[in-house]
Amino acid sequence: MNTSITTPEPVRDVFARPLQDLRISVTDRCNFRCTYCMPRALFGADHAFLSRSALLSFEEIFKLAGALVPLGVNKLRLTGGEPLLRRDLERLVAQLARFQGVELAMTTNGVLLPRKAVALRQAGLDRLTVSLDALDDATFMRMNDANTSVRDVLAGIEAAQQAGFEHLKINAVIRRGVNEHAVLDLARYFRSTGLTVRFIEYMDVGATNGWQPTDVFSAQDILALLRQQWALEPVTSNPHAVAQVYRYGDGAGEVGVIASVTQPFCRHCSRLRLSTDGKLFTCLFASEGFDVKTLLRSGMTEDELTNRLRLLWQQRTDQYSQLRFQAPRLHRPQEMSYLGG
Ligand code: GTP
Ligand code: 5AD
Ligand code: SF4
Ligand code: SF4
Repeated sequence: MNTSITTPEPVRDVFARPLQDLRISVTDRCNFRCTYCMPRALFGADHAFLSRSALLSFEEIFKLAGALVPLGVNKLRLTGGEPLLRRDLERLVAQLARFQGVELAMTTNGVLLPRKAVALRQAGLDRLTVSLDALDDATFMRMNDANTSVRDVLAGIEAAQQAGFEHLKINAVIRRGVNEHAVLDLARYFRSTGLTVRFIEYMDVGATNGWQPTDVFSAQDILALLRQQWALEPVTSNPHAVAQVYRYGDGAGEVGVIASVTQPFCRHCSRLRLSTDGKLFTCLFASEGFDVKTLLRSGMTEDELTNRLRLLWQQRTDQYSQLRFQAPRLHRPQEMSYLGG
């Protein structure tokens, strides 16, 4: 297995977008039932989650990542569902940390971090993003419907910092009429801490959250709220980044917005997603994935996989968010908890 860095041959899709980012969903399960992602009515006791045998093994995930690094992947993100529910995840982290020059990150709801943060850090995880949509328990419950409280997420963030994770990012989905007030609460709380909060527009992803355009609290509205309190200066970032980042004028750090609905960023989208059961999705809104599990289990070599996946990316034309309001959606989309947030 080749884990050393050779100069990657960047593969480009039909619109010349390079492949850079692989998001790996390690479980479709979660200990939260966020209303925008896994509403309890549809993800309750009778929901059929994937069985253990349907999941890709850590070895298979490692082999696939190894086949994609030569095509340009320089960032791996573990997601889910809640990735920390996957048993022994630090073992996968240790394997993936062997790719030199590849950044390894994870998105989590944070409540299991007090138990896991040290092991993840020691295994070689570079960065952490924690989701937190409110600072008061009443709003947190309305957004996240979890059997836990804001205090537990804050304890997870603290445990991560103590374990040596610096510059954590906090992701907050903002839903009009539910948690707009959390914008100023979260900004105030995390200013001057070295952490960056990113406010995310609520998206129509999946088929279960009942999204309506009127539920979106736009990045423009979020920035207007922030600017009533603080001066903000734009920070130039990587063109492939999803967040627009601003610096507080008084030196208290950075804050960001992710305008996936009102200012789509498909033009620069360099992300490929691996679902928990081994399908590759070239867009968050794709209805079908490419079955790579069968290829992995057929005994294909890593080089053969690289060649097949080069073709997959070269044929990619996805730009769902840019076309969202132009054409009716005809397909049944996949849930974000399954294909990775
Ligand atoms: P960093 O490397 O930490 O900056 O990660 P990131 O900017 O890729 O951010 P993250 O993985 O935390 O994604 C933040 C949110 O942006 C996700 O939870 C989604 O809501 C949204 N998002 C991320 N990628 C995409 C994408 O490809 N398409 C759309 N429409 N939204 C996305
Ligand atoms: N809209 C926007 N972001 C979403 N996420 C999940 N569902 C949605 C949605 N409908 C993102 C959030 C969360 C991460 C795990 O997935 O950012 O923090
Ligand atoms: Fe779980 Fe994250 Fe989905 Fe919330 S957004 S239900 S924490 S996977
Ligand atoms: Fe990429 Fe699809 Fe999201 Fe557009 S909608 S940014 S193509 S994942």
